[in-house]
Amino acid sequence: MTPIPIALIFGTRPEAIKLGPVWSSLCQRPEVFLPQVIVTAQHREMLDQMLAVFNITPTVDLDIMQPAQSLSDITTNALIGVQQALAQLQPALVLVQGDTTTTFAASLAAFYQKIPIGHVEAGLRTADKFSPFPEEINRRLTSVLADIHFAATPRARDNLQAEGIPSEAIFVTGNPVLDALRTILTQKPTLAGTELEWVEELPGRLLLVTLHRRENLGEPFAHICAALKQILQAHPDVTIIYPVHPNPEVREAAYNLLGDVERVILCEPPDYLVFVPLMARADLIITDSGGIQEEAPALGVPVLVARETTERPEAIEVGAARLVGTDTNNIIAEANRLLTIPSAYAKMSRAGSPFGDGHAALRICEALEYFFELRSQRPSEFNPSSGNRSQEGTEDGQ
Ligand code: UD1
Repeated sequence: MTPIPIALIFGTRPEAIKLGPVWSSLCQRPEVFLPQVIVTAQHREMLDQMLAVFNITPTVDLDIMQPAQSLSDITTNALIGVQQALAQLQPALVLVQGDTTTTFAASLAAFYQKIPIGHVEAGLRTADKFSPFPEEINRRLTSVLADIHFAATPRARDNLQAEGIPSEAIFVTGNPVLDALRTILTQKPTLAGTELEWVEELPGRLLLVTLHRRENLGEPFAHICAALKQILQAHPDVTIIYPVHPNPEVREAAYNLLGDVERVILCEPPDYLVFVPLMARADLIITDSGGIQEEAPALGVPVLVARETTERPEAIEVGAARLVGTDTNNIIAEANRLLTIPSAYAKMSRAGSPFGDGHAALRICEALEYFFELRSQRPSEFNPSSGNRSQEGTEDGQ
């Protein structure tokens, strides 16, 4: 048979991390699929790091990123660029991931050309259209446009069904971020020989911080930073490392509020091969990132989620993460609890990740075979309660 052309479309670092394993799995079936990659490059430098990690050479690179780009800039440039790329490549299906503006614009471009859409990490919801902004609306609109929905967990499937998406079109696969993490961990990554080598020698405990969400800019950001300073005062053995997202507004706020605080190290976002051992070395993570809520539990590191809402309540339910919001006192109280009560810390760090078992990409490929009628049976699904919950750190002895 002629291999089926599948276009994977993405633009930011987290999309590349999560579609990288799917790309690799599709490439392992050259007789069935012809994977092609279109990158919008909504992010430039952070995306390029990930392309190198997965050894991906894009078929089309739209290079749309502009300094201080607005959401309208990204949407219109991605829509027009992806439309032209699709007209050129004529894929049988496009794959998008998550909830970025690239995800939504690429789905809309595919819909205009009546190309079926597969959505990886479908079904995350906060039920608040402004939180996260604009991601909650990006993913809801993408669900309306998509034809095949890869839900990471049963809860994500339930969210989709509640919106009227037929069960037949939904596959519970786990999240390929756990596949990416597993692949990286088998390479036994270390900080040795990297720009963060000194972290290995750091005495005391490490608090890793990442903050970049639009809805946290302004006052919420200041409240979180105030909490960080007080946590440092209460715990003289703690050092904070905060890799700062390149968004100029995030950079300005981070350097203004934390730039000259003792025991706060602000650095450039390291590439994933460095970020994974950095997460593994951390004793505690405070973040507003989505992906870190999925990865850190698998590495046995407790996560405090500095947001008012999360679309990943599974991590909270299993006890691996806590939603602390952006209230200064609340963040301090939760951090103090974990930094002073060993039993509370141990309970959180042992919870594991409910988001996948490292086989999501395989299930996505099998679901695509089913969609294209190359197999008669629906593939088996990820079941987090079947005991296959991921605790990579333990398994790999890291
Ligand atoms: C985007 C996604 C968000 C995702 C995040 C991961 C949207 C609206 N948001 O947010 O869902 O969680 O990526 O990082 O799609 N910039 C650079 N270099 C880079 C990356 C960004 O200079 O490598 C600058 C851009 O020019 C822009 C700003 O950072 O001015 C923000 O980037 P943008 O893609 O608009 O949104 P993010 O906040 O990164």
